[in-house]
Amino acid sequence: MTGTLAFTALVLAALVAAIPATALSQQQTPFNTSLLPTYYTLAAIAYHKDNVFTAWDCPLCKSPSVSDVINAVYLPTQTPERPEQGYIAVSPSLKTIIFSIDGTDDLDEWINNLKVWKRSWSNLHGCSSNVEVHSGFWNTWIELRGSMEPTLVSYLQAFPSYSVTFVGHSLGGAATLVAAVDLVNRRALSANRAILVSFGQPRVGNIEFAQCVGAMGFKQTARVVNKKDVVPVEYCDSHLPPIFLGYAHHSHEYWIDLYDVLVTNCNDDTGGEADNCSRTLDADLSVPDHVNYYNIALP
Ligand SMILES: *[C@@H]1O[C@H](CO)[C@@H](O)[C@H](O)[C@H]1NC(C)=O
Ligand SMILES: *[C@@H]1O[C@H](CO)[C@@H](O)[C@H](O)[C@H]1NC(C)=O
Repeated sequence: MTGTLAFTALVLAALVAAIPATALSQQQTPFNTSLLPTYYTLAAIAYHKDNVFTAWDCPLCKSPSVSDVINAVYLPTQTPERPEQGYIAVSPSLKTIIFSIDGTDDLDEWINNLKVWKRSWSNLHGCSSNVEVHSGFWNTWIELRGSMEPTLVSYLQAFPSYSVTFVGHSLGGAATLVAAVDLVNRRALSANRAILVSFGQPRVGNIEFAQCVGAMGFKQTARVVNKKDVVPVEYCDSHLPPIFLGYAHHSHEYWIDLYDVLVTNCNDDTGGEADNCSRTLDADLSVPDHVNYYNIALP
């Protein structure tokens, strides 16, 4: 008996010694990757408008993995010049509140005209005062914050044992990430209750921002990249806020490789830019790969 205990203690000590300090500070609940297509379905639904949400009535809404969703509420801006929209809903089967902001209806135009101006975000609790984020993604969130923040707060109270899953595709993934970081910073939500999942997300801010996302203590984060998706992947003069203009991705990348295999061990634990997953691609980046995750068509 004593021998077994001593042996167990030795094994535990060896295990703890084997975990590098950086990994300990960013430890997260293991990600259940078989849920990723479900999260993508929820992100795609954000492209819908109005009454789809009240009745949860659209072809994707009827997918078996999300058909039990309740309490969905559509939260658009009231300004015609900035037609951003988000939704909040509840998934009883996932025991989570869903929070999503849509991408754009005109992806081609966006890919060609993406502005790259950054703004300072110096008051992020526990992070570098040099954090900067893309001003367009910030502005999108600020347009929506007045309606989405109070709605989320009321859902957090109504479903006290549920997590919150922030899901978004493309620009929507970027704005949703800014929202999650801001809501935690404003203490509307604790990070260890929040799961971040994005698909085809462009870079959102500088390396200090990427590191800040890693240090905030989110329950889980997944940044999914589909094959040669032109938006998240870096290539030469890529318009999508590129590394040479001071942009960086946050961890953890999950890459659907060219053989349709999900690569889960990308080397991005310390910063964000994995060097052995999607960044191993060096040419022929693809717009179709940006809009065809899991062969699920966007609405
Ligand atoms: C992961 O999610 C799948 C799909 O919902 C579920 O069947 C499975 O039990 C989950 N696995 C774990 C370890 O939670
Ligand atoms: C990426 O690099 C990390 C660290 O070296 C390694 O553990 C992981 O297996 C690599 N993954 C791939 C897909 O090559």
